[in-house]
Amino acid sequence: MKVLVATQKPFAKEAVDDITAILTGAGHEVALLERYESEADLCFAVADADAIIVRSDKVTPAVLEAAPKLKIVVRAGAGFDNVDLESATAHEVVVENTPGQNSNAVAELALAMMIYMSRNQFTPAAGIELQGKTLGIQAFGNVGRLVGAKAKALGMKIQAIDPYLTDEKIIEGGATPVHSLADLYSTSDFLSIHIPATPETIGSIGYDLISRMPKGALLINTARKEVIDEAGLEKALEERPDLKYVTDVMPSNYEALCEKFGVRVFATPKKMGAQTKEANVNAGIAAARQIVAYFAEGCTRFQVNR
Ligand code: 3PG
Repeated sequence: MKVLVATQKPFAKEAVDDITAILTGAGHEVALLERYESEADLCFAVADADAIIVRSDKVTPAVLEAAPKLKIVVRAGAGFDNVDLESATAHEVVVENTPGQNSNAVAELALAMMIYMSRNQFTPAAGIELQGKTLGIQAFGNVGRLVGAKAKALGMKIQAIDPYLTDEKIIEGGATPVHSLADLYSTSDFLSIHIPATPETIGSIGYDLISRMPKGALLINTARKEVIDEAGLEKALEERPDLKYVTDVMPSNYEALCEKFGVRVFATPKKMGAQTKEANVNAGIAAARQIVAYFAEGCTRFQVNR
C-alpha cells in the first residue's frame, strides 16, 4: 500500500526515519509531502495514496474526494478537528488519532508558558512564583493530568474539572475536583485549558469566565484557538489590567492584543506544543504501527469516526 506522510509542519527527521522503517518493513511504500503550500498540493499528492499520516493538516472534503484509493487517515496527535469526519465516513475512510503520544511535550510547554508569563516575559519587572498558587485544569485528560503532576512538583495546588470523569478519577490523578466552570475560573490563579475544539466548546471561554479570575491570574491555552471567544477575552483584559493570557495558538486579534496589553499577552508564532523530537517520534511510530495493524489485521482500535 502507498502511505503518504503529509505534514505542513514537518516531523523531526528521527520520526520520519522511524515511520519509514516501520512501514517499509511491513511491505508498504512511503511518500513524503512536507511544507506544502496549498490544499491543491495535498489533493495532488493523495491521488494514489491508500493511507495518509497527517498532523494538523486539513483533511477536507476536497482532499478526500481527490483520494479514490484512500482507506485510512491517521492524525499523528490527539486533536482531530482538522479532519472532516463526516466526509471521511461518507467516503468509507477510517480516521484514527494517536492519543497520549505527544502529551508530555504539550504539558511541558504549558509549564514553560506559566513561568515565562509569571516573570513578565523575562523582562526585569518583579514577577511572581508558582509555588503556593492554585492551578485550575480544564479537562483532566492525558495532557491535563501531566500538567497537574508537574505543577504539583513545583508546589502548586491543583484543581480540575472534567465532565467525563468521576470525582474519584480526578482525585486519583492528584487534583481536587471542581464542579462548575464558574468556580474553577474564580478560584484559579493559573488556569490551563485542555479541551478539544468541538461544536460545544468553540467560543465557550469568553468574558464571563475570564473576568471571574482572581487578581493577577494567568490563562494558558495550549488547546485550540477556537475555544476562546476572542472579543470576550479582549474585553476582559481591557477591564482587568491584572489579567494575563498566554497561548500556543495565535489569536486572530493578536496584533491588537499586543499593542494594547504588551507583556500581558504572548502567543507562539506557530503551534509548537507537540513540536519536540520525542513527541514526533512517539506519535509518528504510533501512526505507522496503526496503519500496519489496519492493513494486516483490520485493527481499528483508535478509530474516531465510528
Ligand atoms: C494535537 O492535537 O495533538 C496537538 O495539537 C499537536 O498538533 P501538531 O501535530 O500539529 O503539532
